[in-house]
Amino acid sequence: MQAGDLEPPEPQAVSAPLTRAAIFLMVSVDAGAEQTAKDLLADLAGLQRAVGFRDASAGLTCVAGISSAAWDRIYGGPRPAELHELPVFAGEKHTSVLTAEADLLFHLRAERLDLCFELETLIMDRLRGSVTVLDEVQGFRYFDARDVLGFVDGTENPTGGGVNQAVLVDDDEPFDRGSYVVVQKYLHDMQAWNALNTEQQELVIGRRKLSDVELSDEEKPADAHIALNVITDDEGNELDILRDNMPFGRPGHDEFGTYFIGYTKSPAVIEKMLENMFVGSPPGNYDRILDFSTPLTGALFYVPTADFLEDPPD
Ligand code: HEM
Repeated sequence: MQAGDLEPPEPQAVSAPLTRAAIFLMVSVDAGAEQTAKDLLADLAGLQRAVGFRDASAGLTCVAGISSAAWDRIYGGPRPAELHELPVFAGEKHTSVLTAEADLLFHLRAERLDLCFELETLIMDRLRGSVTVLDEVQGFRYFDARDVLGFVDGTENPTGGGVNQAVLVDDDEPFDRGSYVVVQKYLHDMQAWNALNTEQQELVIGRRKLSDVELSDEEKPADAHIALNVITDDEGNELDILRDNMPFGRPGHDEFGTYFIGYTKSPAVIEKMLENMFVGSPPGNYDRILDFSTPLTGALFYVPTADFLEDPPD
């Protein structure tokens, strides 16, 4: 940057570290309530500061995403180049889900669930009567960052400078330093999963359950979850995404879930992973994790920079 240049816009807290608690809130914006949504989004950082400052060590963050359909209604004007509806991926056995009505996503994270809860309350105080809540999930850290299947989840996330490299848009002015996010809410068939022994479960995931060590190429089946989710560009470079999956559930209702959330600079990366998982690579070689996991929701959002949200162009 040259002296006198403007500071680059500040991203939302996309790359915040994994936390102990999270809330995922998906809403549709009622017709005529676009300005209410836009005003709330502009004030979101202020609300987050109001709650977060009361325990700064808890690291409260809130990331807001806007869907393709909602973008035109709320902001109009130029669009992020890769913002579109999440495709449905239909394989021989498993099919993904599109939650077409989802206009806005709020991803709240903190070390304490009460801070997420309080910020969500303030958000809904502003949006009540203007939005329809489609899905609301409270996620929690499970032991050493395991999913409810019992495996450590998040190990191969990018770190250091690799995070921004993976998640921030860098070739789409004026949308650079924004991001894209894909969410899917999965429920697990724990009876079927628990009928497998540990070695069989390890073949489904592609890593050791206790130690989290990756299986060797000889041991790892082609339909293991991590075998189908390591993807590369034309030059053979691995394409990373940033995942912040959270377990959720209500054992009393036999509900055991994983809320998948992945941030990326290009939705094409996550869409390739979903194609590999559901359709299979090669087609038919689908992800074995899907024999024990059913998606109930699915949506893609653009995550504008914090500067854009606070002061959008007229
Ligand atoms: C890796 C669980 C859905 C992408 C992993 C790992 C686990 C896991 C345990 C291995 C440890 C790690 O590196 O994090 C799950 C569960 C899911 C789910 C329980 C929901 C049923 C997804 C989806 C995607 C995805 C929908 C992408 C669209 C990845 C990627 C890796 C990974 C990219 C890292 C691969 C590597 O570099 O080794 N997942 N996952 N996962 N998962 Fe998932």
